[in-house]
Amino acid sequence: MIGGVSATQLAAEFGTPLFVIDEADFFGRATAWRDALQGAFGDRAGTVYYAGKSFLCKEITRWLDVVGIGLDVCTGGELAVAKAANFPMSRVEMHGNNKSESEIRSAIEAGVATIVIDSFMEIDRVGAIAKELGKTQRVFLRLTPGVEAHTHEFISTAHEDVKFGFSIASGAAWKAIAEVSSCESLELAGFHSHIGSQIFNSEGFAAAAQKLIALLAQYRDEYKKELPELDLGGGYGIAYLPDQETLVPATVLTELAAVVKAQCAAHGLAVPMISIEPGRAIVGPTTTTLYTVGTTKDVTLDDGAIRRYVSVDGGMSDNIRPALYDAEYHAIIANRSSDAPTVNTRVVGKHCESGDIVIRAIDLAADCGPGDLLAIPATGAYGRSMASNYNHIPRPAVVAVIDGKARLIVRRESHEDLLALDI
Ligand code: LLP
Repeated sequence: MIGGVSATQLAAEFGTPLFVIDEADFFGRATAWRDALQGAFGDRAGTVYYAGKSFLCKEITRWLDVVGIGLDVCTGGELAVAKAANFPMSRVEMHGNNKSESEIRSAIEAGVATIVIDSFMEIDRVGAIAKELGKTQRVFLRLTPGVEAHTHEFISTAHEDVKFGFSIASGAAWKAIAEVSSCESLELAGFHSHIGSQIFNSEGFAAAAQKLIALLAQYRDEYKKELPELDLGGGYGIAYLPDQETLVPATVLTELAAVVKAQCAAHGLAVPMISIEPGRAIVGPTTTTLYTVGTTKDVTLDDGAIRRYVSVDGGMSDNIRPALYDAEYHAIIANRSSDAPTVNTRVVGKHCESGDIVIRAIDLAADCGPGDLLAIPATGAYGRSMASNYNHIPRPAVVAVIDGKARLIVRRESHEDLLALDI
C-alpha cells in the first residue's frame, strides 16, 4: 500500500513503470524543513528553496505554495514550470552556471526574488539586462568555499576544481564582490554555497558556513555594512537502503545554527537570514517506482554460484543513478507476499546495454517472476527529472496518492509524443 492504495491497483490503473508519490509524505517533509529552519534560526530564518531539479511539475509547485516555501530553479525550463503554475516569483531563486541571456531576461521580467550569479561574465550580463529593463536585481554570489564533501565526485560541487561559482581561496570571490558592488543595477544580498549532494556529515555544511561568514566579516570591514542573507544550499542525505537513515531536519539545522551563531558572534556580526535548498531530502523518500517483472534468467558465475537476472519494464531511462553514480536501491515484491527462499539477484532494465542495472545485488524471493510488481523506494529525487527516452522508451507517469485516492500529476509519454518531434 502507498498512501492507502495498493500497488496492484496502481499498476492496473496507470501501468508500469510508474512513479508513485505519497502526497502526505511530501507535505510532511517540506513542512519539517520549513519548521526546522524556523526553529533553529528563529527570526533569522530565511527561505527553504525547494531544489526543483530534483523533481518538478506544476502540481509540485502548488504543494510548495501551500507549505509556503520557495523554489530554486536553474534553467528557463524550470522557471517556465513555476510561471505556468503561477508560483509566486517573490519566492523563486534562479541558479545556473551558464544562464542564457534569454533565461536571465525572463527571470528578471518575471520578477524572481534572487539571481545567483556564477561567473564574472554573468555579472556583466545580469547587470546589463537589469539596467535595460529598468530594474535593480537582487543577487547572491555563488561561492566555492573549498570544502571536500564526502560524496560521489560528480555530485560534489564546492572544492576548487569545479565549474561552479567563485573561489574564495583564489580571491575570485573578493573581486566578484567588488564588481557587483559597483554595478548600479545589481543589489548584492548575500552569498551562496552548495557543497554537494547526498551528504551525511554535518561538518561539511559547518565548514562551508564558517568560510562564508568569515567573508561576510571581511565584507563588513571593507564596505562598512553587513549583507543580509546567506544561502547554504542543499545536499542533505537520505536513506536508500533499509539500514540507512535520512538526516533529520531539526537535528542537522540545530547543529548548523549553533555553528552559524557562534561564528557570527566571533566576528561581531549580526546573524544574517539563513536560507537552504533541499531537493532530495524533500522529494526523494516520498516516491516509489513500480515496475513489472518481464523475464528472469539464471547465469553461472566464475565461482560456480548462480546469479539471477530479473528484468523489469524500465531501467536506466527512468533511473540513471545506478549507472551514473553507482547508486544503490532496494526492492520489494509489491503484489503479494512470498515465503520462498531468497536467491542472489540482479535487477536490470530493458535497455540495450549491460550497464542498465537498477540493483546490482539483492537477495530476492526465488519465486519472483513474470507479472510480479517490484517496488523501488526512494526514487523521488533525480529519477523522473533525469529520465531520458533512450531506446525510444516513453518516460513514465507520476501519480500522487493520498487518503486511498490516486491521481495522475504527470501523464505517461506515448510513442506519438516522441514521434511528434520528428520532422
Ligand atoms: N542547490 C544547488 C545549487 C544545487 O546544485 C543542488 C543540486 C541542490 C541545491 C539540491 O541538492 P539536494 O538537496 O537535492 O541534494 N543528480 C544527482 C544530484 C545532483 C545535484 C545537483 N545539484 C543525483 O542524482 O544524486
